[in-house]
Amino acid sequence: MTIAAIIVAAGRGLRAGGGDIPKQFQLIGGAPVLSHTVKAFACQGSIDKIVIVIHPDYELLAAEAIRSALLSKWPNLEPILVHGGDTRQKSVFEGLKAVKGLKPEYVLIHDAARPFITTELCDQVINALKTHDGALPALGVADTLKRVVSGSGGATSDSIETVDRVGLYGAQTPQGFRFDAIFDAHQAAAQSDKGDFTDDASIAEWHGLSMTLVEGHGQNQKITTPDDLKAADKFLKSEALLAENTESTESTESTEIQAQQLEFRTGSGFDVHRLCEGDHVILCGVKINHTHGLKGHSDADVGMHALTDALLGAIGEGDIGSHFPPTDIRWKGAASDQFLAHAKELVAKRSGKIIHVDVTLICEAPKIGPHRAAMIAQLSEILEIAEDRISVKATTTEGLGFAGRQEGIASMASATIALPT
Ligand code: CTP
Ligand code: MG
Repeated sequence: MTIAAIIVAAGRGLRAGGGDIPKQFQLIGGAPVLSHTVKAFACQGSIDKIVIVIHPDYELLAAEAIRSALLSKWPNLEPILVHGGDTRQKSVFEGLKAVKGLKPEYVLIHDAARPFITTELCDQVINALKTHDGALPALGVADTLKRVVSGSGGATSDSIETVDRVGLYGAQTPQGFRFDAIFDAHQAAAQSDKGDFTDDASIAEWHGLSMTLVEGHGQNQKITTPDDLKAADKFLKSEALLAENTESTESTESTEIQAQQLEFRTGSGFDVHRLCEGDHVILCGVKINHTHGLKGHSDADVGMHALTDALLGAIGEGDIGSHFPPTDIRWKGAASDQFLAHAKELVAKRSGKIIHVDVTLICEAPKIGPHRAAMIAQLSEILEIAEDRISVKATTTEGLGFAGRQEGIASMASATIALPT
């Protein structure tokens, strides 16, 4: 492991219009901006690990953009996903912390909003790290620069002055660093009051690292405004058209990137097990001491069985009995977590994501409240989703019916999943 890449994609894209879908998930050339950026990094043979910093509010959009970028050619490339902070600086530091354990020698830090990054530019930045702590691509300023000093030219006019552009450059990303050097710089900035750095080269300069510039690329512009999004889309479409016309093999590549739509589905499940002699029950994976046990071929965990059925229902894959027949000796006394894990795998095979699950246990006793947190933790581990996506509730039936007479325990569950259409 020598080179890591961190792609920061945890911003809200306010200058590009913000709204429900930040700029890094807007479609250009038929695919989200982030997909283009991730693909560009996946192409680079020199990079050993990719970290993508995302906003927790847009986890699903990010997962889908990343999945569609890697699916066709790099299904086994598993980037590290980590949540960012409320500034770019904090997001980068989260990315650095996420990859520190892998002890990379170098790191490239890149804005997701720059999808037109090239392998050549990355190589130039990496090469420059042989002699410097850090390197960044930058382009000399071509326009004549003006500074406006508001209201200083009299009551009605602003004062305008020309700024000498000699020696002025516009900084781009990816910015490359010796990993330990930039980590220390970020740590020092986080520990001081310096929270307003807009790129990593500024933090490196502030911390006294040796820096150098490499020639940036005109195409490597950051998408910032709605006009930038339109221009990027137009550029990619014209590229695709050009490639098609010249029958280049790349045309397949460009049109391969298809925006994936998601559909949301809900499944429900219900299960009952009879109470019998015994001294404990297992509910949602938690063993609870009780006056009775639950009768069943497996461990009779009604909660997990109902939830397994809910997941199977959401993908139309039959029910728990069709996957794990009670007549099969293999499932005698089996722990039900394997049933649930199997249903989760089936969802994953369809490239689905579990959004939320909700389990209701129906019994007079034992009391569920004291065990609720442990149950949620168990389900979170098996389903590999955050605990705040899991609900476990309980109710009695006011002494009515089989549950009220304590002849059995019932459970109902629902599961909401997102599937690419
Ligand atoms: N970024 C981030 N975390 C933040 C802010 C920004 O990871 N808290 C990322 C953005 O997703 C983007 C890159 O840093 O890829 C450059 O930032 P910028 O262009 O400023 O993006 P936004 O902050 O999302 O946009 P805006 O400032 O217009 O809201
Ligand atoms: Mg910003």
